Amino acid sequence: MDFKLTEEHIMIRDAARDFARNELLPGVIERDEKQEFPSEQIKKMGELGFLGMMASPEFGGGGMDTISYILAMEEISKIDASASVVMSVNNSLVCWGIDTYGSQEQKKKYLSKLTTGEKLGAFCLSEPEAGSDATSQRTTAIDKGDHYLLNGTKNWITNGNSADYYIVIAQTDREKKHKGINAFIVEKGVEGFEIGPKEQKMGIRGSDTHSLNFNDVKVPKENRIGEDGFGFKFAMKTLSGGRIGIAAQALGIASGAYELALDYSKQRKAFGTEICNHQAIAFKLADMYTSIEASRHLVMKAAWEKDQGANYDLSGAMAKVYASKTAMDVTTEAVQVHGGNGYVKEYHVERLMRDAKITQIYEGTSEIQKIVISRGILRD
Ligand code: CAA
Repeated sequence: MDFKLTEEHIMIRDAARDFARNELLPGVIERDEKQEFPSEQIKKMGELGFLGMMASPEFGGGGMDTISYILAMEEISKIDASASVVMSVNNSLVCWGIDTYGSQEQKKKYLSKLTTGEKLGAFCLSEPEAGSDATSQRTTAIDKGDHYLLNGTKNWITNGNSADYYIVIAQTDREKKHKGINAFIVEKGVEGFEIGPKEQKMGIRGSDTHSLNFNDVKVPKENRIGEDGFGFKFAMKTLSGGRIGIAAQALGIASGAYELALDYSKQRKAFGTEICNHQAIAFKLADMYTSIEASRHLVMKAAWEKDQGANYDLSGAMAKVYASKTAMDVTTEAVQVHGGNGYVKEYHVERLMRDAKITQIYEGTSEIQKIVISRGILRD
């Protein structure tokens, strides 16, 4: 067993770290406060290759492994989880989905622009009445010969307004249940496609979350991904990889908060010494570091399994449920280590604590991950 990173991995991690410190850190507090999407920064991330890291080089992707991707995700998430969710959705859900299951035409037309950041993607599965229960799709896509007619509403869509291309999951044949679900690529601006108001969120406030309405939207047949009825499996397979990305995001939020708490504890004095010299604080740091390292091993293992071509449904779910709990625990303790300053925006940890919560909710709640894990254990 070799836990060492390769030189290339270290290079990618360091590039992401530099980018996060130089380009994302300035203004991160203001963007959070104003709920401002980091447009300029996302454009630069595209130019640097952070938006299509694992996609095929033939279509502008980086052709990198999942380990490289999660190392970059961790570094970006330490500083700005709003930027890293944009990165995660574009890489793991949209680019990976089209690269793995899309037609050559879809890859030429859509993927080659998504990998470079020229265009941005969104993944639209959740609905007002189909969040965790993803097979209960109410959005319909009726087969009209050369096109599908799309009707329905999608909720909580990341990149809701900023995206250009939307992967939309919809029910074509209700009698076939999940086997009658399809996935489509829908372009922004087509007739009948309306973007609802922006959600006012607790955390990841720089990201852009909207509901979407589809009213008799014509989707060309060639925009369906895969065979008729493949949409639910497409969504599940794509989300399995997405969960590794969100686990890496949670890991980044936790390690970002830990590093801030560690630095602070070495500077702040109380009762005549730096607070890290008090066991009450030192033990908190020990617990934080241990759970971060445990999360890192789970996230790395899931990424490694994906790179090996093994099944990563279980390891991805375990990584997400554990790393997201770690993110909540560690950010909460990081606020505590900072005391009164932890409750103040300029010290960053209160934002990280608010950002951490969503990692237990999106791309499958912690409860859904436990369904996936328990079914996997009981099946084997
Ligand atoms: N890979 C391939 N196929 C899979 C699969 C996987 N990982 N998981 C399930 N399937 C298949 C099953 O094999 C089954 O197919 P067959 O009938 O052919 O065998 C089919 O899908 C239905 O599976 P289940 O019977 O297990 O379905 P279920 O109704 O019990 O639900 C679930 C399973 C795991 C709970 C699923 O509904 C789920 O993952 N829900 C959560 C949805 C979710 O993650 N939403 C996140 C929204 S996206 C987002 O957040 C993005 C963002 O913007 C950040």
